Amino acid sequence: MAPILHFNATQQDFYGGNFWDMRATGARLQSAAAEQSQGPPTNPVEMGLPDTACVAYRLSRGNYATLFVKVCGPSLQSIQWPADAEKTCSTPVGRNSVGPQLSLSTEDRNRANAVYDQFALAIAAYEASPGVNAFSSKFDAFLAGQATLTAQEQHGYALFNGHAQCNTCHLSGNANGATGGTVADAAPLFTDFTSSNLGLPKNLDLPFYHENKPDQHGFVANPQGLAFVDLGVGAFLSGSQGTPVPDQSWIQLAPQFDGKVQVPTLRNVDLRPYPGFVKSYMHNGYLKSLKEVVHFYNTRDAKCPTANDPNVKKTC
Ligand code: HEC
Repeated sequence: MAPILHFNATQQDFYGGNFWDMRATGARLQSAAAEQSQGPPTNPVEMGLPDTACVAYRLSRGNYATLFVKVCGPSLQSIQWPADAEKTCSTPVGRNSVGPQLSLSTEDRNRANAVYDQFALAIAAYEASPGVNAFSSKFDAFLAGQATLTAQEQHGYALFNGHAQCNTCHLSGNANGATGGTVADAAPLFTDFTSSNLGLPKNLDLPFYHENKPDQHGFVANPQGLAFVDLGVGAFLSGSQGTPVPDQSWIQLAPQFDGKVQVPTLRNVDLRPYPGFVKSYMHNGYLKSLKEVVHFYNTRDAKCPTANDPNVKKTC
């Protein structure tokens, strides 16, 4: 699990948080994973619920409502839902993030907020469980001395830790927040929880770059169109994104983190639902295979004919 976002004054670097821009800091719920899980339910391009209280409403109608109450207490059961709750919660939020809100008493609103936090902490607990992270790969067996690498795997491992320097960011040692506890603490997570700017090109296949015209509700998602630049961690730290920055002294550091993106784990990075499934790598999905990823790292510092070379996937 990612640590709660913090600034290390010696390293002059941020560690932890979730999302490419680290904005799920974990400061409020003391869990970055829990705060990340609170993003999708009301995100207009993900689950699109109009109100976070709709999550509590759906939970109260779900098969496991009784189990939830058993673990988290009676708040969920005591909420008085308005008669139009089902209708309201079935109305997707617009791209301007405005949708109908459930009409709740102050007490019930507080209960629904508490349930939303409990729901998030439950997801984080599940994500941290062996059911999601089994740490049962061949690599784990190799570290435990129970498997041997083929010559090619051995070669890749040496390159990763040696000449290619991948493990300077994607730590392959047992150094990730080891607390001497579970296997998950001891096994390498292939991230150092910092951020870097790799110089990745924009992915113009993302619809967002083309949403510079009003939609049917008159909402313009991206007034800058193709000129939009994703400042990543810097954008979050600047406080301009609507996500609260937990420590005001961080705001002045924002420009130093412009363009930086969190180093993701490389665990299960080649896992896919079926062999022919095409994956998208990097936060913007620009690269489509591990071969492209390696080729990008191999050639990204080479001089290309144009800035932001569209042929970066080829040798230049
Ligand atoms: C300077 C730190 C750094 C180094 C060195 C580095 N990476 Fe990364 N890596 C990152 C960051 C940051 C990202 C995320 C970039 C993004 O999302 O745009 C990333 C993303 C990736 C991804 C995509 C993961 C995903 O789920 O999309 C792969 C695969 C990867 N790196 C492999 C490597 C390999 C192989 C090497 C060595 C050749 C390497 N990295 C060296 C920082 C680094």
